[in-house]
Amino acid sequence: MPKMAIIYASGLGRTKTMAEAISNGAMTIPGVEVVLKDAYDASLEDVKDAQAIALGGSTYNYKLIKAMDPFLKELAKLDLKGRIGVAFGSFGWSGEGVPTLIIRMKSFGMKVIEPGTTAVQVPTKEDIEKCFLLGRNIALGLVN
Ligand SMILES: Cc1cc2nc3c(=O)[nH]c(=O)nc-3n(C[C@H](O)[C@H](O)[C@H](O)COP(=O)(O)O)c2cc1C
Repeated sequence: MPKMAIIYASGLGRTKTMAEAISNGAMTIPGVEVVLKDAYDASLEDVKDAQAIALGGSTYNYKLIKAMDPFLKELAKLDLKGRIGVAFGSFGWSGEGVPTLIIRMKSFGMKVIEPGTTAVQVPTKEDIEKCFLLGRNIALGLVN
């Protein structure tokens, strides 16, 4: 069964809300396994057999949230060439989180869907809908 992994780091729960919406969208597609995890709890087991990987991270002090660093370091050990990648995250003003995730996924040789999905501070209803559709569309692509 094709698999989509959604791994995120979130300080105030905003990027987590986006991750949950992506997961809810993906779960509407039968025949796709969906794994949703906080980066603290995630391991390579969660992503090693995933055809699509969505990484979420917010921005703190002009950088990707630090809580994402250990998982990204782990991820570099896998051969992720050709896997589908997408980045998402909430930010306040400068928003380095999502572009940083995109650069990292590209450096792993992943096929990254750009520009990624962002929300400013608390995700709006529209942001949540965008995330839901993103998850749904990626999952659809895995079964078609
Ligand atoms: C201490 C602190 C530092 C922050 N630094 C930045 C920053 O440098 N650039 C930016 O775009 N947003 C910054 N933000 C805003 C957060 O990215 C924003 O509140 C976001 O919604 C947090 O999402 P999260 O709950 O998923 O962590 C900062 C927030 C806090 C509390």
